[in-house]
Amino acid sequence: MSRTQRDRLVDLRGEVAALYRRNRQRGYAAWCRKAYDYVCPSIETYPFQWFWDSCFHAIVLSHLDLERAEAELRTLLLGQQPDGFIPHVTYWTAEVPPTGPYLVSGPSPWQSASMQPPVLAEAVAAVADRGRGGAYLREVLPAVRRYYDWCDRVRDPDADGLIAIVEPHESGMDQTPSYDAYLGVNGEDPAAFETAWRPVAEAIALAGHRAEPIFAADRFIVEDVAVNVLYAENLRILARLLGDVGDAAGAAALSERAKRTVGSLLTQCWDPADRDFHALAGRAERPLPGNTVAGLLPIVLPDLPAGVVDRIAERLADPTDFGTTFPVPSVSRRNPAYRGAPAGGSVLWRGPSWINANWYIARGLRRHGADALATRIEESSLQLVETSGFREHYDADTGRGYGAREFSWSALVLEMAEANP
Ligand code: GLC
Repeated sequence: MSRTQRDRLVDLRGEVAALYRRNRQRGYAAWCRKAYDYVCPSIETYPFQWFWDSCFHAIVLSHLDLERAEAELRTLLLGQQPDGFIPHVTYWTAEVPPTGPYLVSGPSPWQSASMQPPVLAEAVAAVADRGRGGAYLREVLPAVRRYYDWCDRVRDPDADGLIAIVEPHESGMDQTPSYDAYLGVNGEDPAAFETAWRPVAEAIALAGHRAEPIFAADRFIVEDVAVNVLYAENLRILARLLGDVGDAAGAAALSERAKRTVGSLLTQCWDPADRDFHALAGRAERPLPGNTVAGLLPIVLPDLPAGVVDRIAERLADPTDFGTTFPVPSVSRRNPAYRGAPAGGSVLWRGPSWINANWYIARGLRRHGADALATRIEESSLQLVETSGFREHYDADTGRGYGAREFSWSALVLEMAEANP
């Protein structure tokens, strides 16, 4: 590592540590009589605990402070329900729980009834690997296993290995254009999405939040590509962790589950005609439009056919597709929905680049030996943060930052820099 690179890393560590001190939320929640300690995504915009954000924060904390990394995940697991489910938001610090036409409230008004991309196992792995290893795993793995068993039992009613989300926020990519036509979204202003989301939330409430009637109502059911890639990746990691603590049967079962998910992604979601992955909607499993970053995430899968790897790498290198100046745009430039700045002034996942997606894609590229492309994405991500700060997302051409300020998961650039100095 050259001197300059080392200096950059030292500065970055300092800035991330300061950000994570500012965004730390610690206290006691009277509504559940529990103490919490987590990093919020952004004090101004997102003061509560979000599921996949929290997993990313624990991964970042595993480089800085292992006790806090454990506390982050311990707080997340406090919300786990007896059936294994973990809510996508817990309103720890709210004086009164927020309400809204499209917020799906869950086990209590302080917790949502939605899931988010299931990235818990990799967060646990990062914290265990850099910290207390097997001793930590033995404490947390039973809860983690219960969570993934919930995903399998409750969210995969057709048992094809692909789990289904039942409302758009569950994808973590709230306003992705892939769902526009399915939802009947008309226009790009935030109100258009709220109007489209309301009946979905109402159908869930009408079904009493129970999976069976939700699936029977068939209002919004999506086997999403990004969600299932991350599911498969995390099942594989969980299998490894179970093996590490001597649970050979658990490891074999989870590894089988991961294989089934990957198999279905390739047979059901990959379209050899347009050479893109497509989410599947409804009981009829109709393919939804692609041309978004979700279709690149399969690069994370180690056992991807060479032709698919090449296609994803090609698209990432093509400036008219995903190879922008500050990659990786959340939507292809070829997609008519693409906007450099957030569409409608504030809607998400319709063009700008996000650091968590970049992190996964760079990891996948390295796995398949495409190191130069990976380095380009890692370097560009670091530049985005150095120039525009820890923002929620960035214009993929100009690098200008948008959305929430002091956004905690953008600190994943530290993980990229530490892993590949
Ligand atoms: C937005 C993002 C979602 C994230 C949340 C908190 O809703 O789309 O992925 O978890 O903000 O940062």
